[in-house]
Amino acid sequence: MSVEIIKAENLSKYYDDFLAVDHISFSVEHGEIFGFLGPNGAGKTTTIRMLTGILEPNSGKVKIFGLDMKRHKIEIRERTGIVPEMANPYIDLNAMQNLMLMGKLYGMKRREIEERSIELLKLFNIYEKKNAKVRAFSKGMKQRLSLAMAMLPDPELLFLDEPTSGLDVMSARMIKRIIREEQKKGKTIFMSTHNMQDANELCNRVGIINHGKLVAIDTPEKIKKIGEKHKIIELSLYPLKFQKDAFEEKIEVLGDKIRIYTEDVDETIRKIVKYAENENLKILTLNVEKPSLEDVFMVLVGEGNE
Ligand SMILES: Nc1ncnc2c1ncn2[C@@H]1O[C@H](COP(=O)(O)OP(=O)(O)O)[C@@H](O)[C@H]1O
Ligand SMILES: [Mg+2]
Repeated sequence: MSVEIIKAENLSKYYDDFLAVDHISFSVEHGEIFGFLGPNGAGKTTTIRMLTGILEPNSGKVKIFGLDMKRHKIEIRERTGIVPEMANPYIDLNAMQNLMLMGKLYGMKRREIEERSIELLKLFNIYEKKNAKVRAFSKGMKQRLSLAMAMLPDPELLFLDEPTSGLDVMSARMIKRIIREEQKKGKTIFMSTHNMQDANELCNRVGIINHGKLVAIDTPEKIKKIGEKHKIIELSLYPLKFQKDAFEEKIEVLGDKIRIYTEDVDETIRKIVKYAENENLKILTLNVEKPSLEDVFMVLVGEGNE
C-alpha cells in the first residue's frame, strides 16, 4: 500500500508581482527518494520553503504525513529534518555544541542528544573535529554537519536543498551514500538538485521544474524515454570551422565536439556530409547517441541552443 508523505496541491508563490512558483501539484510516497530537478532560479528553494512551512504559499495547499501544514506545523516540524540551501550551523560554536542546540530545539533529552550526536559525528567522519569551531570547517564538513543536525531526532522525512552542490567529491559521495542508507531504513527523502547525474543515480522519481512550472514528473528512465525520439549526433570536424546557422537543429558545441539534436538521423547526417564537402572540412568522428537524462533535461528546459 502506498502512503502519501508529501502532497503539494496547486502551490504558487509570488515575490511582489513575480511568479516564482506557478501552480504546481505533485505527491511523494513513503520510502521514495524524490528529486526536484531544475536550473538555477527555477523555484526549487521557494518550493522547499513552502513544503517545510517556512514560507506561506499564495495559493494551494501543503499536506505532510496527511496533515495540513497550516494547522499542524509543529507536529510536522517535529517529524521532519531540513537541510537548507545555505549551511546553517553556527560558526562560533563547535560541532558538538551545534548538535546540542539542535537537539534541544527538537526537545530531546541531553543523554539522548549526546549519544545520537556521537553516532552521527562518526557516521559523517567529523568525530575528530567535534570540539573544533565550525568557522574552521570546509564547505563539505559544514554540509555534513548540517545533515547530521537534520538527522539528529531520526526524522521520517528529510528535505535536502541541493545537498551535494559545490562540495568536494568525498563529501558528496558520503552524503549520497547516507541518503541511500536512510532510504533503506524506510525514510522518505525530498531533495532538490540542479545536477542530472545525482538525480539519475539517486532518485526513484524526478520532478523537473523550470521557470516555476513542473514540466515533467516520472522515474529517471521514463524521463529519458520522453527524449527517445530525439537522437544526438556527435561529430568533430577538421579544421574546427563550424557555422551553427547552417543547421536548423538544436546544436551545442563542447570543446572540439559538435552535438546536434535531431529527430531524423538520416536527413541530418546527409546535411552534415554535404556541409563538410562544401566547406572542405574533414569529418574526424561521427557518433549517433541516445539522449542521456541531461540531454532530455536540455530539451525540456529548452536551453540547449545558447
Ligand atoms: N526573497 C526573494 N525575493 C524576490 N525574488 C526571489 C526571492 N527568492 C527567490 N526569488 C526569485 O525567485 C525565483 C526562484 O528562486 P529559487 O526558489 O531560489 O530558485 P532555485 O532554488 O531553483 O534556484 C528566482 O528568479 C529568484 O531570483
Ligand atoms: Mg535554490
